[in-house]
Amino acid sequence: MGRPLFRLGKRLGLCASMVREGVSLADIGTDHGYLPIWLSLHGRISRGIAADIRPGPLCAAEKNIVRWKADKITTRLSDGLKEIQPEEADDIVIAGMGGELIARIIRDASWLKNREKHLILQPMTSFAELRSFLLEEGYAILREEAVLEERRAYSVILAVYDPEAVNPFPGYAHIGGIDASTQAGREYLKARAISLRKQAIGLRCQKKLEEADEIENIVSLIIERIEEGRKGEEM
Ligand SMILES: C[S@@+](CC[C@H](N)C(=O)[O-])C[C@H]1O[C@@H](n2cnc3c(N)ncnc32)[C@H](O)[C@@H]1O
Repeated sequence: MGRPLFRLGKRLGLCASMVREGVSLADIGTDHGYLPIWLSLHGRISRGIAADIRPGPLCAAEKNIVRWKADKITTRLSDGLKEIQPEEADDIVIAGMGGELIARIIRDASWLKNREKHLILQPMTSFAELRSFLLEEGYAILREEAVLEERRAYSVILAVYDPEAVNPFPGYAHIGGIDASTQAGREYLKARAISLRKQAIGLRCQKKLEEADEIENIVSLIIERIEEGRKGEEM
């Protein structure tokens, strides 16, 4: 394809980098539609559906599709994947939403339990809840990376249904597949540790000492991971 027409931010850029070449894509909660439009304009996908639960964002996505002449992208009013047929999407992106909503959307689409389907997930909150859900449902994390955008660290998860490949370790729900040898990975883990430590302080105030201890143990695991990652980078 020709010259790049617009830039994706780093967060959506990382999501885009996990989409396989030539696939059909469904972008759930597309809002402005930038991700599927960008991928289509760069010849990276064969077709795409920009889906959203609200008509307002879809209208914005439609305007952008026309503006950028991205005629391989169509829009769809849909709560999660309810209006998407399994044969319409090989790769599914669900980005910029809470982890619990992402888990609900996946749970409601049992056809995602197919090794051929790739899920690219970018939760804004409830990260551990999402990873625990994936683990319980047999979705393995094939890849997870963090990225820094406007001084905030985001993580993007590439998951696929493969119960045999699920390989949890202590702290898995909080650490996932994050690579701590990158600065973004360490920043992401540091933010998680700070948030968990605040939670542990709250629990101590409420005299829930066992729960507080459990969370402090996870914080220690995260700090260990950060230290290992820092050493790994120096080597
Ligand atoms: C913060 S925007 C994220 C936009 C884009 N995916 C990104 O990451 O930049 C969240 C979008 O998800 C949509 N949304 C919320 N719940 C949804 C659902 N159940 N199904 C589909 N879209 C949903 C909202 O309408 C909104 O446009």
